[in-house]
Amino acid sequence: MAIEFSERIKRIPVYPVADGYSLGEGVAMLASNESPDPPLPSVVRAAQRALQGVNRYPDPSNSRLKAALSGRYGVRPERIAIGNGSCDVLLAAGDALLEPGAEFVYAWPSFSVYPHLAAASGARAITVALRDDHFHDLDAMATEVTAATRLVIVCNPNNPTSTALPFTEIAAFVERIPPHVAVIVDEAYCEFNLLSDPQDTVDLLDRHANLVLLRTFSKVYGLCGLRVGFALCGSEAFPRAVDQVRQPFFCNAAAQAAAIEALAHQDAVAERVERAIVARIEVEAGLAELGIEAAPSQANFCWFDLPEDCEEQAVVRGLAERGVLVRAGGALGRAGALRVTYGTPAQNARFLDALAQVL
Ligand SMILES: Cc1ncc(COP(=O)(O)O)c(C=O)c1O
Repeated sequence: MAIEFSERIKRIPVYPVADGYSLGEGVAMLASNESPDPPLPSVVRAAQRALQGVNRYPDPSNSRLKAALSGRYGVRPERIAIGNGSCDVLLAAGDALLEPGAEFVYAWPSFSVYPHLAAASGARAITVALRDDHFHDLDAMATEVTAATRLVIVCNPNNPTSTALPFTEIAAFVERIPPHVAVIVDEAYCEFNLLSDPQDTVDLLDRHANLVLLRTFSKVYGLCGLRVGFALCGSEAFPRAVDQVRQPFFCNAAAQAAAIEALAHQDAVAERVERAIVARIEVEAGLAELGIEAAPSQANFCWFDLPEDCEEQAVVRGLAERGVLVRAGGALGRAGALRVTYGTPAQNARFLDALAQVL
């Protein structure tokens, strides 16, 4: 007899993991919105120093990391949640807020982990289609909020479409949402967004106790292999609740130490953003030469519809055969599209060359 799993397990979608981790050096890994830059030497050293003390559990309250984040963003440590990646905070938010009978509103296509929250909790997922121009339809989302709504997520810039709404629209949306509903603005890519400063939404927190800004060290800081993310919150209640539903010691010692060190190097962050913007301009221009119009990106990746006569899987396979891994839109909520992370200049050129051959 086979093991009998819970109904919950049957509902939870399998996360669409990227292939290619076994392919090793020489492959352009443009499928997971990672940073093409290795961590700074001082960040590696900080993680190595932390490894020398791993006979002890890590600081369970993440106090030094919270103090560093508090200093940077001006948010009290009690209003900061830390996670084993920002996904950890996201899943804990689902656990803490959702249950059968509750409703959860989010846009689609958006980050692949959101459907997991409703499936795992038994809450009702209310998905609101993106506008035809790939942006969130905030009016339609606000209309879906009812007395049963517990959580609304806005991903800005949005994964997978790379589009970002201006700060004024986000602020007006948060204003419209009643205070019993938690609003998570997932800002995993906010540093790459030229339309607003990462501090803009932070300034909203004092006025909205229900607002949560989800951020990560996985993207611009280039630490996704260590897993550390955080949330800046409008109240102390949210960090307390997400801590309650997780195991203690969810953020390991090397991750805490590396994140603190990485945060101290905002000059390197600015350089990475600059390189991503150059890549954005070059890749968009290269795509335009192939007759492809990418969505207006404010992230470290681009999103575009393939020409109508192209079969998505054939294009993805053709690119992989040429050593370029990208993500098929079908796995992300929209067939016939591709999501491609910006890499080094050489990787971007290789992608454009390969795409020209495949098309
Ligand atoms: C929109 C968005 N949010 C959150 C995450 C999770 O990142 P992490 O768990 O590595 O912090 C990602 C990762 O791709 C993402 O695209």
